[in-house]
Amino acid sequence: MEQANSAPRKRIFSGIQPSGDLTLGSYMGAIKNWVPLQDEYDCIYCIVDMHAITVRQDPALLRRRTLEQLAQYIACGLDPVRSVVFIQSHVPQHAELAWVLGCYTQFGELSRMTQFKDKSKKHADNITAGLFTYPVLMAADILLYQADLVPVGQDQKQHVELCRDVAQRFNGVYSDTFTLPEPFIPKMGARVMSLGDPSSKMSKSDPDGCVFLMDAPEVIQKKFKRAVTDSETQVRFDPEHKPGISNLLTIYCAATGKSPEEAEEVFQGQGYGVFKPAVGDAVVELLRPIREEAGRLMADKAYLEGIYKEGAERASHLAAKTLRKVYKKVGFVAR
Ligand code: TYM
Repeated sequence: MEQANSAPRKRIFSGIQPSGDLTLGSYMGAIKNWVPLQDEYDCIYCIVDMHAITVRQDPALLRRRTLEQLAQYIACGLDPVRSVVFIQSHVPQHAELAWVLGCYTQFGELSRMTQFKDKSKKHADNITAGLFTYPVLMAADILLYQADLVPVGQDQKQHVELCRDVAQRFNGVYSDTFTLPEPFIPKMGARVMSLGDPSSKMSKSDPDGCVFLMDAPEVIQKKFKRAVTDSETQVRFDPEHKPGISNLLTIYCAATGKSPEEAEEVFQGQGYGVFKPAVGDAVVELLRPIREEAGRLMADKAYLEGIYKEGAERASHLAAKTLRKVYKKVGFVAR
């Protein structure tokens, strides 16, 4: 990955849970931005299956979704030659570093995590230690690779900040060990909201308000036609007073590359009856090549296997280097 005769390039790490099908939210908040970063950075992109089991999963479905997610990563433009693309559970150093970092993370810090509070409300009958310590595993993911930047949606910012705090604490005790990572959050699409309820985040657990990357064009159109708007008629970007329309404008802008002002101009004098299907069309065209390519790749299991096996090998090599350093610093006897 590093080029000869030049300074090492900066590192990127990010991941998505295979706990459901990929959504337009995770595409716009994360993957879409991962693709161009490959030109300037050494990128490591992961399918975080160990995170997915913090809530109960169907094993056969988890296995299938993990492979589908890999096919969709590649179809979205991740290049497994330039970047390291792998499955988290294939690289045991993630769990090993997570244990060490857990010993440098405070109970109070984890208790303050918004996602933990939300998820433990949603899964009140199954609040596991794994759900609670999940941000520690995420910190291990990032710190193992000495990542400089972590491209994520708005909802993951708090976890990246915790990761920084833990890294800083460890560095303070044992001298510089970890690179301090920064979250990298897109201007457009950092928080795509539900089409059915623009006050809550688009999420795979709300299939009606959520567009999936693999949804057929007619399904996407139907979801946009039903999207919640308001009782006015004007297409105007005003998240506070017009959350539904502003969310649709954000999606339209992230899909077309237009600014909100340009988009307002396109729809000036036109009602929501024209606007909503136009947003649907933009999303259909954005996702069409991804859906088609992912379908083709899913039929080639040997190709996918080659990618995740090589990815795990490359990731493991980098991860082992950091873990060796950490074990030495905390005082473990070398093997
Ligand atoms: P996850 O799997 O919930 O989401 C994956 C990525 O998609 C972004 N995202 C969104 N962005 C905008 N609007 C939305 N509605 C939306 N929904 C999801 C998320 O911000 C995220 O970037 N803990 C992480 C996975 C993870 C990770 C990591 C990320 C594990 N280890 C290390 C970065 C680095 C998560 O649950 O994301």
